[in-house]
This record gives sequence, C-alpha cells and structure tokens, in this order.
Amino acid sequence: MASNKITLRVENALHRHLKGRDQPPRLGQAINHALFPGGARVRPSFALGVALACGDDRPAVSDALAAAVEFLHCASLVHDDLPCFDNAEMRRGKLSVHCAFDEPIALLAGDALIVMAFQALSDVAADAGDRLPTLLSAICQSAGTPHGLVAGQAMEGEPQTVLGAYHAAKTGALFEAAAVGGAAAAGGDIAVWRRVGARLGTAYQIADDIHDCVGNAADATNHGKPIGQDALHGRPNAVAMHGIAGAVSLLKSTLAEAVTLVPDGDGAEALRGLIDRQAARFLPKSLVSVAA
Ligand code: IPE
Ligand code: IPE
Ligand code: MG
Ligand code: MG
Repeated sequence: MASNKITLRVENALHRHLKGRDQPPRLGQAINHALFPGGARVRPSFALGVALACGDDRPAVSDALAAAVEFLHCASLVHDDLPCFDNAEMRRGKLSVHCAFDEPIALLAGDALIVMAFQALSDVAADAGDRLPTLLSAICQSAGTPHGLVAGQAMEGEPQTVLGAYHAAKTGALFEAAAVGGAAAAGGDIAVWRRVGARLGTAYQIADDIHDCVGNAADATNHGKPIGQDALHGRPNAVAMHGIAGAVSLLKSTLAEAVTLVPDGDGAEALRGLIDRQAARFLPKSLVSVAA
C-alpha cells in the first residue's frame, strides 16, 4: 500500500476513535492541539505496515491499534514538554500544549489521550476477539513500567541510567507496541515483529539524540521543536556516549538491522520502503555521508 494511503488510514482512524464531543471545551481544544496536525505519524504508519505485511484481515482492528499507538505517543509528548520534564515551549512547529493553554489542561489532555488509547481498543473488542488480550498487553507494556514510557521518563531522575535501557523504554517500547500490535491485529507472528520494532525504536531515538545535538532551525530535518535539550537537561544520549560519528554509525547499523529483520512475504518490500523513507528524514543532510 502506498504511504499516502497509509497516512490517510491513520488520520481517519484517529478521527474515528476520538471521543468526547461534549467534553469541557478547553480540554477538547487541547486534545485537538496535541493530535492535529500531526507529526510524521511514524508509529501508527509502521503499525499498519506490519499489519499489511501479516495479511491485515481485520482492518478495523489494525486501525484501532494504530490510533491507540498515536494517542499514547501524543500523550507522551504533551507530558514530556511540561515544565516538570523538558520545559519545552514548541512542539511540531507550534506552541506546546501547556503554553497554548495551561499546565493543568496539558496534564489532563495527556491523561485523556492515554485513556483514549484503551478506549480505541475497546471500540473494536468484538471484532478483535481472541486477539484483544495481546493488543491490550502490547499497549500496557509500552505505556507503563517497568519497560515502557513511564519507566523511561522516570529513569531521567535516577543517578545512574543505562543508555540502551533508557532508549528502549522511552521510545523503543512504543515502536515495539506498534510492531507487536500490528502483527497481533492481523493474526501474525508476534516474536519476529517485536525484534523489528525494538530495533527501529532504538534507531529512532538515536536519530532524535543526533538531531537534538546538531539540528538547526534552517535544516529541513528540523522537527519543529527546540534543540540542545539533552545537554541542557543533562540527559543520557547517544551523542554524549558515542560522539557524533559514533552515533551516526550506530544509527545506520541499527536501522540496517531493523530492515534485515523484516520477514520475507507479501508486504515486506513495502514495509522496508516505508522504513527507508522514514530513515531519510532521520538524519540531518550534513551527516548523511558519515560512514556507517
Ligand atoms: C518525538 O517523536 C519523540 C521521540 C521519541 C523522538 P517523533 O519525532 O515521532 O514526533 P512527531 O510525532 O513526528 O512530532
Ligand atoms: C522522547 O523524549 C520520548 C518521550 C517520552 C516523549 P525526548 O524528550 O527525547 O523527545 P523530544 O526530543 O522532546 O521529542
Ligand atoms: Mg524528554
Ligand atoms: Mg523532550
């Protein structure tokens, strides 16, 4: 399936599972601000790519899973930008939610988005049938602790943090949920896709660390958020640990591993293409030629 069709499916799924037309107006506006317009929609697109590679025999279920993953991702960004975490004023080229509204509304919008992820799966429970427990478990593991987003953010407050575990929890876990959930929604083999998701998630966070260190406002790969945050907040990151060249090399080898792990079959080539296209946006142009 062409990537623009996947993008359209993601947007439709988000709207389909967006709840609460009658909610408090400012909360509804803040949720909309967090969701639309989106960023790259990497995780839900990847989830649908995996579902398609597994036959995608229940598209309403894979759509719901993709929406759940993006709801969680957007929740994590709203909370991550709060003053008590990264204190970031910009996200996706516009004011972050707590700056556009206020901190209480941002906290609640993030909370609401987390709940909406579970609501999206509940919406398709009948269709999902015996696949539902695996979908729920994938979402729980990615969101919570000890291996999910909550754990990853908590590691920032620990005196010692292992970089690989930190990356795996704060970013890898949600890519894993996209992979495992996409496969589970279509009745595919979970173990093999979990490995693809984990590698891709790690690559993505290494890329984000590189971008945070070397990105600039004029660079086409600037993602509409502040740079220099890792150094400012003393976060463990791939550049501090490996240097720029080492981080770029690690990014390239991790991405190559993810592509190699994609199992052969219908949809595999399309998915490898999707990963390659996302990879092209990972690196600032000035670093593309750094040797792997
Ligand atoms: C930002 O993710 C947070 C990271 C884990 C790097 P994205 O770069 O996917 O953000 P959007 O959704 O495209 O804005
Ligand atoms: C990314 O954290 C993972 C999240 C839980 C949001 P970062 O703090 O590194 O992400 P950005 O750079 O703000 O998007
Ligand atoms: Mg952060
Ligand atoms: Mg941040």
